[in-house]
Order: sequence, then structure tokens, then C-alpha cells
Amino acid sequence: MYVCSCFGITERQVREHAETGACTPRQIAGACKAGTDCGSCVRKIQALLGRGACPRREALDPVVLTTAATTAAIAAAAAPAQAAAEAA
Ligand code: FES
Repeated sequence: MYVCSCFGITERQVREHAETGACTPRQIAGACKAGTDCGSCVRKIQALLGRGACPRREALDPVVLTTAATTAAIAAAAAPAQAAAEAA
């Protein structure tokens, strides 16, 4: 069954790319262009990939990695100020 009609990408092809390491819709797009034209298939691709289906997602996706590092840095910077505010 076709997932991406713009590029003729099937569910089977998406699963094959996922098995070889494409864990996000962006990575699937990089592998076969699915989702890069009208974008209407991105949610279907996301559903096929599943939430948390790829344990290496953080290691493979620099955007996720950067976001996680930024969030941790913000939390660490805010912690002393929050403690001081609570003590006052
Ligand atoms: S259906 Fe996939 S980009 Fe249009």
C-alpha cells in the first residue's frame, strides 16, 4: 500500500528504511524523499515508525540531540535561581 503518493513510496519501503536506521520522518525523507513534496504523508510515516520504536533516535537525530542538550542546560541554569527564590 502506498504511503507517499507523490513519490510512490510504499509502507514496505518505509519499514525497510526504518530497519536500516531511519528512525524519524526526516530520516525517511532523506532516504527516499517521502514527505518532501505535499507533506500529507508525514503523519502516516510517523505512525509507521511508532513512538519510541528506535532506541538510537537521540544518537542519530542531531535536532533531537541538540534540543535535549539545550533543555538540560536551561534546567541546570534555572535551578539555583529557583532555589534562591523559594528560600526568600
Ligand atoms: S504524499 Fe508524500 S509528499 Fe505528498
